Amino acid sequence: MTSPLANPITLPNGTILPNRLAKSAMTEGLADKFDQPTPAHYQLYKTWSEGGTGLHITGNIMIDKRYLERAGNVVLENADQLPRFKEWAAQGTVGGNHLWVQLNHPGRQCPKLVNKEPLSPSDVHLDMLGNFGKPRAMTDADIEEVIERFATSASLVKEAGFTGVQIHCAHGYLLSQFLNPLINKRDDQWGGSLENRARIIRKVIVSVRKAVGADFPIGVKLNSADFQKGGFTLEECAQVSGWLAEDGIDLLEISGGNYEQTSLLGTEPTDVRESTRKREAYFIEYAEQIKASANIPIMITGGFRSRAVMEAAIEKGEVDVIGLARPLCTQPNCSQLLIDQSVDEIDHYEDELVLGTGFWGNNSSSNLIKAINSFGQVGFYYWQIISLSKGLPPEPKLRTFRAFVRHIKNDAKLNIRRKMA
Ligand SMILES: Cc1cc2nc3c(=O)[nH]c(=O)nc-3n(C[C@H](O)[C@H](O)[C@H](O)COP(=O)(O)O)c2cc1C
Repeated sequence: MTSPLANPITLPNGTILPNRLAKSAMTEGLADKFDQPTPAHYQLYKTWSEGGTGLHITGNIMIDKRYLERAGNVVLENADQLPRFKEWAAQGTVGGNHLWVQLNHPGRQCPKLVNKEPLSPSDVHLDMLGNFGKPRAMTDADIEEVIERFATSASLVKEAGFTGVQIHCAHGYLLSQFLNPLINKRDDQWGGSLENRARIIRKVIVSVRKAVGADFPIGVKLNSADFQKGGFTLEECAQVSGWLAEDGIDLLEISGGNYEQTSLLGTEPTDVRESTRKREAYFIEYAEQIKASANIPIMITGGFRSRAVMEAAIEKGEVDVIGLARPLCTQPNCSQLLIDQSVDEIDHYEDELVLGTGFWGNNSSSNLIKAINSFGQVGFYYWQIISLSKGLPPEPKLRTFRAFVRHIKNDAKLNIRRKMA
């Protein structure tokens, strides 16, 4: 029997995805000192393109050079930048897959080394190891500019030859900050009621659609919830999903959490009931309620690792597209292996990526150990991406502490290089 993961799917605007597996966005950190794509991007996406995944979504690309999620981000602001993006789009589609660009504005989650005064709906400071400056509350003009920038970058994405665009409204970045009442304290048309908090996102979608036309697919990545007391809730997510379906998006990707609540990586609990199947796919529990209010294809990302769980989710219609991120760093062709039914499980190193157990482990009460573990975990995946981008094999035996050291060194290099440019 052929795997249901191999079935194509037609999106609302007629776009056909060749199968049910998608690579979710992963920030690459491979830009040059002018925030532009490099041959490393071409190689990385060519490798991924040859691995059988039907839809690839790039790591977040910034719409404004002044505000990055991290040094090493790519920025797309004007047509002069197109030649390298065209090359990237061409190399990243050699396998006949879709390649969409994820567009993002980090809001207050913009490191101090990039900008000491980031923007946010209100001036609520994200205080994490002194990494982020106190944000400035956005004016109406700032908000209108952001809406326009998303549309401009989206039209450039299309001109470059990418096959779709995804607007990042999850994980505590700017658009998800607007949705979160703990961060959005405004009492004007952009804050307060859910309708007001979602206004900027809906305006972004309308202007992006105007910029790219009816045939070009638009996706949105949205939190199922922030999983913080007083934050964006599942009920609100279902309502916003319904509005986005009305506004004509083609694919809704569901994730959850933010920098303070890292459920997106499975390192903090969501309030789901525990069961083996549900522990594997962190957010699948929420798909039913979201689907009930939004008649659009749903992609769920986070924790999918076994073929049986993925196939069951597709067969039962709980979800339309399965999002994968970390497994593709060490096993870039894992989608093909799943479709061919030649593996039951794909790579997963998350549980091994801690310094040790007890005091040294994931549950250590020491802030230093916690920081080494979490930077080491993310560094592990960044390093695999760097290896693939050089045409080298992954390095799954890389230990957590070494990944931490490499990450810190590489991040310093990216920041210094950019400052000197
Ligand atoms: C190294 C790394 C970089 C990431 N960068 C992004 C990003 O740029 N945009 C985004 O929406 N999510 C990003 N994520 C989150 C992933 O898209 C995904 O939601 C998360 O890893 C859970 O999926 P997984 O369990 O299959 O890895 C990143 C995750 C990792 C590990």
